[in-house]
Amino acid sequence: MSRVKYGAKPIMLPQPVLIIGTYDENGVPNAMNAAWGITTDFKEITISLSEHKTTDNFKIRKAFTVSMATEDYVVACDYVGIESGRNVPDKFAKAGFHATKSEFVDAPLIDELPMALECKVKSFEDGILIGEIVNVSADESVVTDGKIDLKKLKPIAFDPCNNVAWGRSQYDILIMRKEEKL
Ligand SMILES: Cc1cc2nc3c(=O)[nH]c(=O)nc-3n(C[C@H](O)[C@H](O)[C@H](O)COP(=O)(O)O)c2cc1C
Repeated sequence: MSRVKYGAKPIMLPQPVLIIGTYDENGVPNAMNAAWGITTDFKEITISLSEHKTTDNFKIRKAFTVSMATEDYVVACDYVGIESGRNVPDKFAKAGFHATKSEFVDAPLIDELPMALECKVKSFEDGILIGEIVNVSADESVVTDGKIDLKKLKPIAFDPCNNVAWGRSQYDILIMRKEEKL
């Protein structure tokens, strides 16, 4: 085998596209895009974050939601990753998103994104957010036989090699799984 060497790079494949939802001190919702996140225990999520409007918000509210970005809302999910709520106070609305407060934590669910983790902040140190997953919720439209159905949810994946997000229609691994009926 002849391996191409890329050096030290933050590459993991596939990588999620997570949309973090928060409220500011006035109850205005905000959303941002994060690819550097992963579950790290049964009730724990860890996300690598620079300072953003989102971090300002969850330091106050001690809570956030993590929605899966979907093919149906890829443009809005991209927008919240390139614009800051620090510069555009109505960024959430501009993205075309609508908020419903989580029953479990002091953070907004995004009506347009059907599946989300609802989390309390455990810690945020050295750019590493650790959250306690208090609840996971999914709209009935993406549930089959009581289980979250990836084919209905249509989550997208971030490709750090090419800096693009891929949907199911172009995403070979999911297409293979679909054909194998896993
Ligand atoms: C695909 C994608 C992935 C991103 N992943 C991260 C990430 O993991 N951590 C981070 O700090 N910023 C990440 N960003 C950048 C933030 O989403 C961006 O700075 C955003 O404007 C912050 O919004 P806010 O200031 O309203 O919270 C990502 C952006 C994109 C487009």
